[in-house]
Amino acid sequence: MSFDLVLFGGTGDLAWRKLMPALFQAFRHGSLPPDGRIVGVARDDLSDDQYRELIQSRFNAVEGAKRPSAEEFEKFASMLYYLRMDLSKPADYTRLADLLKQRNADTVVMYVATAPALFTQVVEQIAAAGLNGPSTRVVLEKPLGHDLASNRAINAAVCKVLEEKQVFRIDHYLGKPSVQNLFAMRFGNALFEPIWRREHIANIQITIAEDLGVEKRGAFYDQTGALRDMVQNHALQLVCAIGMEPPINSHADAIRDEKLKVLRALKPWTPETLGLHAIRGQYTAGTAYGERVPGYRDEPGVDPESRTETFVALRTEIANWRWAGVPLYIRTGKRLASRDARIEVNFRPTPHAIYRAPSGAVNKLVINLQPKDGLELHMLAQAQDNRQRNGHSAAQLAPVQLDLDFDKRFGAERVGAYERLLLDVIDGRLNLFVRSDEQEEAWRWVEPLIDSWASDGGPRPYAAGTWGPSASSAMIARDGFSWGEEQ
Ligand code: BG6
Repeated sequence: MSFDLVLFGGTGDLAWRKLMPALFQAFRHGSLPPDGRIVGVARDDLSDDQYRELIQSRFNAVEGAKRPSAEEFEKFASMLYYLRMDLSKPADYTRLADLLKQRNADTVVMYVATAPALFTQVVEQIAAAGLNGPSTRVVLEKPLGHDLASNRAINAAVCKVLEEKQVFRIDHYLGKPSVQNLFAMRFGNALFEPIWRREHIANIQITIAEDLGVEKRGAFYDQTGALRDMVQNHALQLVCAIGMEPPINSHADAIRDEKLKVLRALKPWTPETLGLHAIRGQYTAGTAYGERVPGYRDEPGVDPESRTETFVALRTEIANWRWAGVPLYIRTGKRLASRDARIEVNFRPTPHAIYRAPSGAVNKLVINLQPKDGLELHMLAQAQDNRQRNGHSAAQLAPVQLDLDFDKRFGAERVGAYERLLLDVIDGRLNLFVRSDEQEEAWRWVEPLIDSWASDGGPRPYAAGTWGPSASSAMIARDGFSWGEEQ
């Protein structure tokens, strides 16, 4: 099978950091169809060779095993081409069409990794140049819009010229091996299903913590914030994976139909819950990796009076028969105490206690997403012989855990998220991509937060290297629970 992959934003941050390394790994693993071209598109005036050199110089900065040898790079580079384009000029799309016509590849992937403001224009121009035929697949990076209206406008423009099955909306969390394992855990095993419901589960906590700050993306991030950058997409996709009903089969639409129902069932915000169950914060100077780091407002590209949130903690519920009444907590932020993405499913205590248990100890399932990838089942066991006292059993239980480490079991070098997703696009598999109605529903749910935050007192400060504002712990403590790592 032959393919052409056109990478709009070919000299951009995403291309360097994620896409080129992923394409190279796919090439190295022998999973990239050999008859392919990767065409970088940008405004810079570069020849094919200069583009190859530029990419090689980036690869040279990579440490360790992921760095290609000179020989490997030479082979990979023979797939690379460059086209200078001004994305607003129809004539430039005609030149692109001419380049693609040279081969009439079986599949043409248009990866739009540009500023979101250009998505509509690029897709419309692709169509105007006659490049939207059935062999074309368009990949759109997040964020797709900045609110419901802008998301709808992009989707409407896209759907006018492409069929839904040609559109691959990326959420790279769905490509992570750990997230695929979450689906496998739920739908490949019968073990959890009977207890995966309100009768047995006390609360669910989703944490996506990053220890890094905004790095070089200050200007972009300041317009975006944690709610749009992480919650509307990655965190809500995890909510879907945890909360959805088993799909009738593994086809893309069967999965997406069930995810959509979860998003529709999320409790709508009210003035009261907006006040009590939505906390946002912004990091101030603090310590990370043992060093002083600047506050968010002092990061390059950030407005010194910025009100953008770098931390969000929410409490919600999936209002349906399975989950009614089970609090679902979502927390994400930059410059937190550690890099840690995990889902904790806390089970209800025993209905009647005959043992003494350490306070706070509960049965819980921890789904580690990163940096660890695995499952932990926390239980209580009798650690030592406890003699009967006064005829009563006074056994003291101790917490123990079953620990499944998927990195150890399957190898830490499993196919990375972008590699997996790029290969899926080339093969036309839509399972791990987001449908337009899912995305709109997610925007609909976060929109009241965006609106209410536009005019309130602004985010609460938290020191870099901590777990966010104390209001986040207070929010969960009001329900009688605490965040996992703080127990
Ligand atoms: C991206 C966000 O989508 O995800 C970034 O734009 C964030 O701000 C990144 O750092 C996190 O991805 P990962 O795979 O490192 O958890």
